[in-house]
Amino acid sequence: MSHIWPIYCKINHRDPWRKGVKNRMIIYDEKQHIFQLNTKSTSYMIGITPEGYLGHIYYGERLQHIDGGYLLRTEEYPYTPERNKREKCVFLESFPMELPSGGIGDFRESCLDIRDEYGCLGTEILYKEHRIYSGKTSLEGLPASFVTASQMDTEDAGTAVQTLELICQDRVLGVEVVLSYTAFEREDVITRSVRVHNRGEQTLTIEKIYSACLDMDYEEDYELLTLPGAWARERRIQRRRIGYGRQSAASIRGESGHQEHPFIALVTPGTTQTQGDVYAMHFVYSGNFLGQVEVSQHDMIRMTMGIHSYEFGWKLTPGQSFQAPEVVLTYSSEGLGKMTRSLHDFYREHLIRSRYKNTERPILINNWEATYFDFTTEKLLDIAQTAKDCGIELFVMDDGWFGRRNNDESSLGDWYVNEAKLTGGLKYLVDSINKIGLKFGIWFEPEMISPDSDLFRAHPDWMIQIPGREPALSRAQGVLDLSNPEVEEYAYESVARILRSAPIMYVKWDMNRQLSDLGSAYLSKEHGRELLHRYVLAVYRMQERLITEFPDLLLENCSGGGGRFDPGMLYYSPQIWCSDDTDAVERLGIQEGTALIYPLSTIGAHVSVCPNHTVGRVTPFKTRGIIAMAGTFGYELDVTKIPEEDRDMIASQVETYKKYCPLIQSGDYYRIASYQNNHYFDCYEIVSKDKKEAIFVFVQVIAQPNMHSIRVKLKGLDNEAKYKINGTVYDADALMNGGFIIKRPWGDFQAELFHIEKIND
Ligand code: DGJ
Repeated sequence: MSHIWPIYCKINHRDPWRKGVKNRMIIYDEKQHIFQLNTKSTSYMIGITPEGYLGHIYYGERLQHIDGGYLLRTEEYPYTPERNKREKCVFLESFPMELPSGGIGDFRESCLDIRDEYGCLGTEILYKEHRIYSGKTSLEGLPASFVTASQMDTEDAGTAVQTLELICQDRVLGVEVVLSYTAFEREDVITRSVRVHNRGEQTLTIEKIYSACLDMDYEEDYELLTLPGAWARERRIQRRRIGYGRQSAASIRGESGHQEHPFIALVTPGTTQTQGDVYAMHFVYSGNFLGQVEVSQHDMIRMTMGIHSYEFGWKLTPGQSFQAPEVVLTYSSEGLGKMTRSLHDFYREHLIRSRYKNTERPILINNWEATYFDFTTEKLLDIAQTAKDCGIELFVMDDGWFGRRNNDESSLGDWYVNEAKLTGGLKYLVDSINKIGLKFGIWFEPEMISPDSDLFRAHPDWMIQIPGREPALSRAQGVLDLSNPEVEEYAYESVARILRSAPIMYVKWDMNRQLSDLGSAYLSKEHGRELLHRYVLAVYRMQERLITEFPDLLLENCSGGGGRFDPGMLYYSPQIWCSDDTDAVERLGIQEGTALIYPLSTIGAHVSVCPNHTVGRVTPFKTRGIIAMAGTFGYELDVTKIPEEDRDMIASQVETYKKYCPLIQSGDYYRIASYQNNHYFDCYEIVSKDKKEAIFVFVQVIAQPNMHSIRVKLKGLDNEAKYKINGTVYDADALMNGGFIIKRPWGDFQAELFHIEKIND
């Protein structure tokens, strides 16, 4: 094998480190042939072997010097191909690869499998050259993190966000593979993605492409943290010790799903909110995924994340390229709390684009749990009028306003107004609601088709199905074949036409079934396995068009509750409906798992009636309100029918939420205690960035016969300062080390929200 170093040495790289520019984020050291990516408190290091393999050297605590080349241990490998061709397989099986490829001797999980036109699977990518630049480029057709001009550090241009592109090639296939890394200094995040260009002469098929890989030594009894769930039970935190072999979180359902979440973290044993090492990967994608950890025979860990290879295949004719979605990586040496705050900041600053992201969202009332399908114009106006009197600002009409949809058996796809229900039509309803003083929002499920619909009768081939096989229904519905541009256009226009017809400021975009019977009447046999990814790309295109055509629209994504709560959707909508389970106690667990990685400003949370429609539990209205405030806050009930004392509480709940909304949206989130672990009480805190104020919520879920009060240790305050809580002044260090005393409330399901205010120095 030829020595590749001279190729990249020809490129004129300055070595900023040696020239003393110590705060450069991405450094290339020509002597050691290593790259070092630095963020505020982390470093990531990649090395190049003489053959051109890209090896992973280090990810962890920020290094003050660039001196880690020896950690690649190339001298140590008796089987380095350059020195010993005979045992290349052993080298490949033990070398820490930045992007391992399949078919050539590394039998661990590969990240890139390409089949040539003779039917052979084999890919080997070797370094060719690199580029380092300030900022970040967008990923065509995909949601991805970004940096705006104002976010770049103007005083020290280029230090806030920098990108490294490693350009590799497989000479046999004629393929160029670009590994992109962007370091976000302040948020301690590194994003990764992969692009493949077919620069050769044959048609290739990508059979697997993952976006990120982290190969590390198996030197700790790491635990794998995942967020599994189910409908009405989304994102419950689970930790398990890893062992030899493969352990994963995955979806093959066509969406990210309720059941698993596109997030995995490796944590050292005993990791808490404040201690322990955490390596996290989060996928910016809304379809099938695989997040996996493999412990191999040579005591190496391989952590990978990308599009699941199940039912995936992508044809690349000469000249074409494929862009894989982005993975967000973060490392914390200070436990889960630091990871949470890094991800919250990152998503707020670099992924959510909506003009609503930093503004107070209107307090909404949704009629789903109030009426289900049984409503009329008159009934909706009644609810809206009473809601207005309580201080609510936005009325959302949910499922059931179109076609002949009086239950969930029919009409998806027939997006024309049911005037038998909505007498006077949609425009009349919207105008009347606006006259009452509320804004108007509406529900759609644009990706779906009911077999009992005019749309299906006219276009049965628009439904995803396998020829000759009766497709499985779920909630009596099928899925539109969005790989067909005509179908995509129809689905988009169905929504846009309604939005053009009346002043509608909010859309809830729902998706109530997962994808099976994967067949497309549109795609040819060669492209059949592209269906799932093409479907996701079409959803992204439609939502991009929607927020472009209606720039003032507030979009909330939803999928049977929180089945498509993922970073991909956040790029289009600043908030996502978190779960159909609105029970306050269940929500503690669901919102804890969601807030572990997503900012509170994204978490759709509403107050509903009791007994709760999902679990039948009765909780105080006050408690339901306080728990929903750790999200976008709204109501999902018939406000005309609830007990008067509950209704009377709404105005003050709205006032409280509005008062603390800027803090909830932008503050640092601290998890203090978890009912999921202690089976007693829950406690979390939100501290403003300037530490001048905070709120914290205490919920006694199940009363216990303790003889004394409870101490909760607050976090994140200015250690030197004094703070006032309920009129009493405390030293911050006492509150954080000793704690704040909560007098045990009487009974179950009791919640209290406390405001903390810094006393002027
Ligand atoms: C599922 C959603 O999660 C609910 O909030 C509601 O919109 C229903 N679909 C309507 O069918």
